[in-house]
Amino acid sequence: MGITEIPLDKLDTEAFIEQQVAAIREAAADGIAMSALSGGVDSAVVTLLAHRALGTRLKSYFIDTGLMRENEPQQIVDWFAALDVKVEVVDAADRFFEALRGLTDPERKREQGITQPFYKDVFADLLRRANANILLQGTNFTDVQETAAGVKRQHNVFTQIGIDPQKAFGYKVLEPILALRKPAIRAVGRALGLPTELAQRPPFPGPALAARIIGEVTRERVAIVRQATAIVEEGLCDSGAFQYLAVLHQDRVTGVRDGKRDFGYQIEIRCWDSQDAVTAVPTEIPFARLRALADRITGTVPGVVSVTYHIAAKPPSCIEAV
Ligand code: XMP
Repeated sequence: MGITEIPLDKLDTEAFIEQQVAAIREAAADGIAMSALSGGVDSAVVTLLAHRALGTRLKSYFIDTGLMRENEPQQIVDWFAALDVKVEVVDAADRFFEALRGLTDPERKREQGITQPFYKDVFADLLRRANANILLQGTNFTDVQETAAGVKRQHNVFTQIGIDPQKAFGYKVLEPILALRKPAIRAVGRALGLPTELAQRPPFPGPALAARIIGEVTRERVAIVRQATAIVEEGLCDSGAFQYLAVLHQDRVTGVRDGKRDFGYQIEIRCWDSQDAVTAVPTEIPFARLRALADRITGTVPGVVSVTYHIAAKPPSCIEAV
């Protein structure tokens, strides 16, 4: 794939930051660039690098796709305001739900439902509005490796699979952390002054909660997985795990509520131990803790009657369900 990884033990953080800041300045020349935050550490690190390089010539956005976690937009705006970076929230939920309507195939959901609206519509419009021609994004070494190997179409990989963003979308995409995996990205983030809470945040995928909904992604189904996600994140944030999440299944199952049949939703909890997301094993969560999570989910998320814990490793599983 033509990129050489810089592993954490070979990373000179300060030199890396200097090089990337210089490369961003050179690419932008006197122009304006744009970055889009997702709530994850990768886009946060890239935004700080670009802000250091360009100051107010960087326009930073948080695209609210309607697929985000609870309170995510405000949390990101607040974190970045404390770092003197102004982030504008853009409501694009209608566009994403329209693109996702009727799609159930995972790869079509990723390509048609996420990549196209992001890059062809929302980013292209914002770049035009800001008079910018460079999009900065936090594609990392694992994203490229998985897409190039055909594991799944990560929403943000183009050049490395033969797509020229300039030709496909009309603007240039700059990827300063392409050679890094998560531990190295976190180290750069800490060196750039990212709050520990954000630098140490579990990864969150660009397709957001859509990567955790099996079958069609609708507003109603996102609401269910969003509520379950908040419970799982709160319940497992002290687990020390690499990533933890809730998945909404497509099939419903028979349950019983108030003495009557309830044909309800199934939530699957996943919690992973991993270094870099390439391989992962399920965390050994104490059973009582899992039971408590199940009670909270079935007790508070409307319509959920079943909660399971995912126990297969990656490979052959993946961290996300879609
Ligand atoms: P999988 O599900 O492939 O995930 O085992 C590996 C890691 O990548 C994240 N992920 C994504 N990140 N765009 C991203 O930016 C994507 O399309 C995407 N898909 C998965 C996932 O959360 C995990 O950390």
